[in-house]
Amino acid sequence: MTVGDISRQKLRIAGVSKCYSSTVALDRTDLEMAEGEFLTLLGPSGSGKTTLLSIVAGLIAPTTGEVWIDRHRATDLPPFKRGIGMVFQNYALFPHLTAHENIAFPLRMRRLSSSDVDREVSRVLDIVKLSHVAGRLPRELSGGQQQRIALARCIVYNPSIILMDEPLGALDKNLRDHMQMEIKRLHTELGITVLYVTHDQEEALAMSVPTNSTSGREASLRRVSWANQTSFRASWRRRVTRRLCATASTRPSARQQIPGSARTRPCAGWSGRKAFA
Ligand SMILES: Nc1ncnc2c1ncn2[C@@H]1O[C@H](COP(=O)(O)OP(=O)(O)OP(=O)(O)O)[C@@H](O)[C@H]1O
Ligand SMILES: [Mg+2]
Repeated sequence: MTVGDISRQKLRIAGVSKCYSSTVALDRTDLEMAEGEFLTLLGPSGSGKTTLLSIVAGLIAPTTGEVWIDRHRATDLPPFKRGIGMVFQNYALFPHLTAHENIAFPLRMRRLSSSDVDREVSRVLDIVKLSHVAGRLPRELSGGQQQRIALARCIVYNPSIILMDEPLGALDKNLRDHMQMEIKRLHTELGITVLYVTHDQEEALAMSVPTNSTSGREASLRRVSWANQTSFRASWRRRVTRRLCATASTRPSARQQIPGSARTRPCAGWSGRKAFA
């Protein structure tokens, strides 16, 4: 999305901050995302990642600033009117409900008919390739399967934007690698807009490098922002230089864009400097 391409703007965060008495959880932050974009934000623990996502989702109100979704002001909208799905690190599945019922839950809340619920649940179980565990409780599933059910529960009601808050943090390395591929596949197949946050530099890079199937598509545009901490930034930049020297520039600004398609553009937003300090 170019700065002037307003028609494709999915999300805009303008001057958003959050203070708890004397604690600045999130300093003034600006961010723009285009429809179908996958944006990874990288920041250390306590830098305000969850606070930012919670403000976008409407779970907490910002102290200053505005949130715009689909070019409509959403700052005061309740969460259920924002069309946003959120995937958390700890899955947040209902332990007493089967995988099928967990996925059905948001549809039942929206009062879909039983036949529509069953059809949609089957559709997304197929997408995450877990139709065979539909009748199991969360405790009868592996960590990776639970996270895929959480993803399915998120995509089943076709949210406008999906927010992912360190969704793979609880998984071991093998499962994490696998789920990274799964999330990329879902993004490519469904063309959804995804805002993904992590404190893990390797993961941020892995999620931000386009796959073969996505390269050249606008939806594959990936960007990484990094912390405004000298040592953190320096080590991250060394890795970028080593791993992506053919494709990445490492200019010394507070933001980084990894060219992933023909439509790369200067990074907008994420000016949460103090939040990272
Ligand atoms: N309800 C609250 N009251 C007071 N301070 C808070 C509250 N919620 C968050 N904070 C503070 O705001 C800052 C940002 O918190 P946040 O949870 O957004 O960080 P984070 O980047 O998600 O960290 P992590 O990677 O550990 O999840 C932290 O210093 C935290 O202690
Ligand atoms: Mg967090």
